[in-house]
This record gives sequence, structure tokens and C-alpha cells, in this order.
Amino acid sequence: MSQDQGPTVAHGPRVVAGRYAILNELGRGGMGVVWLAEDRMIGRHVAIKELHLPEGVPSSERTVFEERVLREARTAGRLNDPAVVTVYDVVQESGATYIVMELIQAPTLSDVVRERGPLPAEQVAKLAEQLLSALEAAHQAGVIHRDVKPSNIMLAANGRAKLTDFGIAQSLDDPRLTSSGILIGSPTYMAPERIRGDEAGASSDLWALGAVLFYAIEGYSPFERTTTAATMHAILSEVPYLTRAQGALASLISGLMVGTPQARLTAPQVRGLLTHVPNGPPTGPTAMNGGTGYFPHQNPTTAVPAPAPLKSNRKVLAALGAVLLVLGAVAGIFAYKGITSPSATEQPLAIKKFSYGKDGDLRTFAISDGYCASGTLQPKASFDSSYDCKKDYDFQVYGYLEPMSSSAKWAYQRSELERLGESYCAWLFGTDRVKGDHKKDLTYAVILPSAETWTAESSDGGDRTVFCVLNRKDGAQLTGDQVNAVS
Ligand SMILES: Nc1ncnc2c1ncn2[C@@H]1O[C@H](COP(=O)(O)OP(=O)(O)O)[C@@H](O)[C@H]1O
Ligand SMILES: [Mg+2]
Repeated sequence: MSQDQGPTVAHGPRVVAGRYAILNELGRGGMGVVWLAEDRMIGRHVAIKELHLPEGVPSSERTVFEERVLREARTAGRLNDPAVVTVYDVVQESGATYIVMELIQAPTLSDVVRERGPLPAEQVAKLAEQLLSALEAAHQAGVIHRDVKPSNIMLAANGRAKLTDFGIAQSLDDPRLTSSGILIGSPTYMAPERIRGDEAGASSDLWALGAVLFYAIEGYSPFERTTTAATMHAILSEVPYLTRAQGALASLISGLMVGTPQARLTAPQVRGLLTHVPNGPPTGPTAMNGGTGYFPHQNPTTAVPAPAPLKSNRKVLAALGAVLLVLGAVAGIFAYKGITSPSATEQPLAIKKFSYGKDGDLRTFAISDGYCASGTLQPKASFDSSYDCKKDYDFQVYGYLEPMSSSAKWAYQRSELERLGESYCAWLFGTDRVKGDHKKDLTYAVILPSAETWTAESSDGGDRTVFCVLNRKDGAQLTGDQVNAVS
């Protein structure tokens, strides 16, 4: 591997610190490029992150930054947890800073979710357990990560996760970097107290962990908006809706995203809740081992794993109690029922889905986006006339999706259409498309074509549109437009 490339190569690869030969680009982010490189001294491949400060940062600030990166990377380099990407070396050369680290041959969590959609609950629980242990190790060593986000997590096919980029964000936050109008990257995973200007603490990393787990289970980033200002506003004021997590997993994700750091779940509380996730990871060091990386299925009829010693059960109960208290304290902000009582038998608040068409649940559905209609969404109902929402109504259409043109010959698959509609409507419901004033009282339903409607020619009533409608949770009528203009 580290053999001489031969004298015929006119300009061989760039070599950093006389030792690391830069081979290919692995990716790039807000602050620089990550390279695949070969450590010629040891003869192994490594990943090298090349950091450049933006142009125009004065040289005094550059020095502060460089010192700080060195210090943080050294601290991070001492962390020893299977879920932490190991830092091997830090090099400063020709105005750039290079962090030499373990090469991880796995996609990031953001790649995985973008390509394959949300992860199943047991994988999210396993991810939670590993990331939690990485953060606990870091926090015990006095390192706050500050940039926990899906693209800083690598996820191998066997379920093993690795967290990278420890402390780099911290180096950028140094108060001595005075011209810091520099906000590198997006604040999508930045805890509310940091947006309010408080110092980041260990619990800020836990908040970001909650948002990352939300992303993994729901398939979208809970606070991502089109502008930085809107994202920050969402972090400070919105409570995302969980639709795919239930019981203990939902409690821990929501309990981590509690806005007040003091009321947020602590790492031991999260650990306690994890033992209550069905098929979730058992706690303890053996949890990381095993060829497939997945855990054997436990008895699916019960959410409570095999009896644990009394002491740890007590701890779990205490953690559950704490969660319930926390959730109680922020009463009303969790619109999703399923998160308040982590019990084995609990069902999620099902999002209603109705097909429309002659063979559908609803006979007809002809309400356009933004319009309102009256009548209960129930089997055999027909909705042919709509109005502009100024008088009382039962539901409003707040969005629609046309997944496939009517000429495409693909077979009708109701369950897939339901899944697609549910994730689209859930996402849209969480955006500013739906006004904030009464959101906590609202829920949504998915209206999708029936088999016949999907298959028929459009001249014959065929339609492939999936609609998102909102209504009040308590079934009462609404007055006044509940949606903001799209553009
Ligand atoms: N240790 C590593 N091993 C392999 N690939 C890496 C490593 N670190 C980062 N990468 C890749 O480089 C990309 C860019 O990383 P980075 O510059 O930190 O930006 P960001 O974290 O914002 O995506 C990552 O998305 C990942 O695909
Ligand atoms: Mg990164």
C-alpha cells in the first residue's frame, strides 16, 4: 500500500506533513473537504479533513481558531468509544488545518435516510444507544460535540454507528473569534438555548440527539426550513409531530427535544427508556457485538423485555416517571397522543386514510388545495363542493401530491400510497404551510385514490392525486383559513 509510486509519475499525489498522500475526495461540508488519503508511514488508509476558514478572517483570529482546533482534536483524540470516530493526528501546514482520522467506509445517516427513507424503530433504538454512549464518553471527558447531525453520523449496514467531528464546531464558537458573523453550516440541529445565546452544554448535544433520532424515525429533519431565520424560529417555537415512534421510543425522542435544558431528559434517563423499546438494544457493553449488528427479536407481544433485576427496573421506572413529569410540565405541547404514556399495549394515534372513487371509502373527493368543505370524513361520504373557508367547515385541504402521471402503467399499491401520503402530509403539516395559531388542536388525514380511480383514464374519472386535509382533533368545526400561502 505504501510502496513507492515510481519515478515516472510527474506530479504524484499531494502529500501532507510528508506522510499523508491525498488520493480522492470523500465529501465536502461547510468548512472544507474530506479526503481519502494514505498514511505512508503506517501503510493504511485514513480520512483527512482539510479545514479552511472563510476568506477575510483576520490572522489573529485564524491563530485562535487553529489553537482551538488543535486542543479540541487532541481531547477528542483521547476519546475511546466504539461509536466515536478516532482522531489520529492534527497537522497545520500552509495555512490549512488537517484532521487525520479513522476512515469509515459507510454512508452517513443523512445518505441512508435520503436513499432509503425512515429507519425502523428497532434500528433507531440501536442508533440511539450507540450515540448516547459516544456522547456520554465525550461529556465525561469534558468535550461537548456541538455539531451532532445526520451527516456527522456514519451508519454501517450491520447497524454500527460512528459519530464524527467532535469539537470542531466548538473551535468556531470561541468568543475570541470576534468577527464571528460566521455561522458555518445550518442551525438545524442547534438546541434552542444556544439560539438564545447560552453556552452549549452536554444537554445541548442531547437535544440534537433527539432531533437526529426524529430524523431517523420520521425521515425528515424536524426543524429544517427554507431560511436560517425560519429554522431558528421553528426550533424556538414548534413541537414536531411524531407519527412513526410509539411508547418509550417516542417518549425519549420527545423528552430529548424539550426546549428547557433543565427539563430535558438526561443520559441515564434515556438509557432507562431504551430498555423499554420493543426489540431495542439491551444495555451494557455486549450490545455492540454480534455479526449482524441487529438484535434478536424479543417476544413481540410485550414491550417490556425479560425481567431485569429489581434495581434496574426501579431505575427504569424512575426514568419513566421523570419523563412523564417532564411531559406533564410541558402539557399540551405534544400534539401526538402516543408519546405521553409509554405502555406496552398502546397504539399510536392513527392517521386516518381514506381512498376516493366508486370502489373507495369516499365516493367522490373534488376539493382543491386550500379549499374547505363540510361533512364528516367517513365511509360512503361524497365531497363535491368546496368553499373558501370563511364560513364554518369540517376540513381544509392543505396540500396534495401527484406521485405518478395517469399514463404510467404502474400497479396500484394502496399501502405504499398510504405511506407516501402519510409522510408527505406529516411533513407538510409540520411546515409553515399550516398556520401555527391552532395547530395543537389540529390533526390531518390522507385522502388517496382508490384502485379504480388510480387505474381509470382521466376522461373516465381517473385521478392519481393524494390530498392532505386538516381538521380539528375533537371533531368540532373550524372557521377561517388555516393555511399560509405557498409563495
Ligand atoms: N472519517 C470519515 N471517513 C469517511 N468519510 C468521511 C469521514 N468524515 C467525513 N466523511 C465524509 O465527508 C463528508 C463531508 O464531511 P464534513 O466536511 O464534515 O461535512 P458535513 O459533516 O457537513 O457533511 C461527510 O458527509 C462524509 O460523507
Ligand atoms: Mg461532518
